[in-house]
Amino acid sequence: MGKILVTGGTGFIGSHACVAFLNAGYPVVIMDNLSNSKVEAVARMELITSKQARFYQTDTQDVDGMRQIFEDNKIDAVIHFAGLKAVGESVQKPLAYYENNISGTLKLLQVMEEYHCETMVFSSSATVYGCENPVPYLEDMPTSATNPYGYTKVMIEQILRDICVANPSFSAVCLRYFNPIGAHESGLLGENPNGIPNNLVPYVAQVALGKLEKLRIFGNDYDTPDGTGVRDYVHVMDLALGHVAALEYGQKHTGFEAFNLGTGNGSSVLDVVHAYEKACGKSIPMEIVERRAGDIAISYADASKAKEMLHWEAASDLDKMCADSWRFTLQNPKGLS
Ligand code: NAD
Ligand code: UD1
Repeated sequence: MGKILVTGGTGFIGSHACVAFLNAGYPVVIMDNLSNSKVEAVARMELITSKQARFYQTDTQDVDGMRQIFEDNKIDAVIHFAGLKAVGESVQKPLAYYENNISGTLKLLQVMEEYHCETMVFSSSATVYGCENPVPYLEDMPTSATNPYGYTKVMIEQILRDICVANPSFSAVCLRYFNPIGAHESGLLGENPNGIPNNLVPYVAQVALGKLEKLRIFGNDYDTPDGTGVRDYVHVMDLALGHVAALEYGQKHTGFEAFNLGTGNGSSVLDVVHAYEKACGKSIPMEIVERRAGDIAISYADASKAKEMLHWEAASDLDKMCADSWRFTLQNPKGLS
């Protein structure tokens, strides 16, 4: 059996996916430039699985570095997580986002072509549903974006569609994640954002830890049951297992396919806060502030396509997601170092 190359494999979702692949028996090669993660994640995944992954500190811009990885290892498939992901930053630094995400992916695809590697599982996002589609989101709805980060996902999906037309033996599986949260239940791996978190659950975790004073809830006047924004939160280990299912699918089928990875259920900001309070046994100080620019009221998946075609379904509920996030936060108050 050849190996799988996991780009961005020391990051939040990638590191959990590596655990799932190692547990499933795949030989794993990780490539990451460590711009938003720590190499300690590799040691943690080995602790969890008692299996070793091979690590390369390499950037997707470094074509020769990537060729070396393909020379050293027979790579059957690439699971492509590497990329920048902060929406607000992408508005400030569009060139950095297009360069890193799009140009980096093109170079990776060129090296894959040189080495006749024809299977990619790509980290897409629910952000490709834009702001016009009704919920629940279905995979055949039109895609669009409202910021450079979102456009990189829409464009990379298009690039992969085009490659599949040009090369009938290529297989591209795009996974559109909803809102991944939680951590490995050992408390050894989790989300490790730099600086002040932008996303809800890492922010709440820092408030629970006492590092941030209070949560600011961005609006309670949305047309939702309690007025706060509704999202489809999905446990990162469920998501990780979705990648194993997607790879198995990609190895059996050619062509382009996109799948939603979500639970199919929406939870409000207040639902999340209450679940987190239960997990940590403290109350979370909070205040209602203005809506955040660019936010939508409700986002959740129609999760039936992944269930039918990948035989994948999210198993964990919000209480478990928050309990696992809190365990990781308590055990690693400064994140991984
Ligand atoms: P993350 O930042 O934790 O992981 C991304 C990893 O890629 C990091 O370890 C970073 O160091 C690495 N990286 C970035 N640019 C690179 C480059 N040019 N070369 C090599 N490595 C590089 O983020 P994550 O939350 O694990 O997200 C993984 C993927 O999933 C990203 O593509 C992201 O856009 C996508 N995604 C994430 C979410 C989310 O909410 N976390 C939602 C939808 C989609
Ligand atoms: C964000 C990204 C989106 C990405 C998704 C998954 C933005 C504008 N959008 O979406 O592109 O696909 O993450 O990674 O960044 N909230 C608060 N207070 C906070 C933080 C968040 O009230 O301090 C609310 C938000 O208004 C929202 C919900 O919590 O209703 C979830 O927010 P967040 O975790 O940032 O995710 P998304 O907005 O869904």
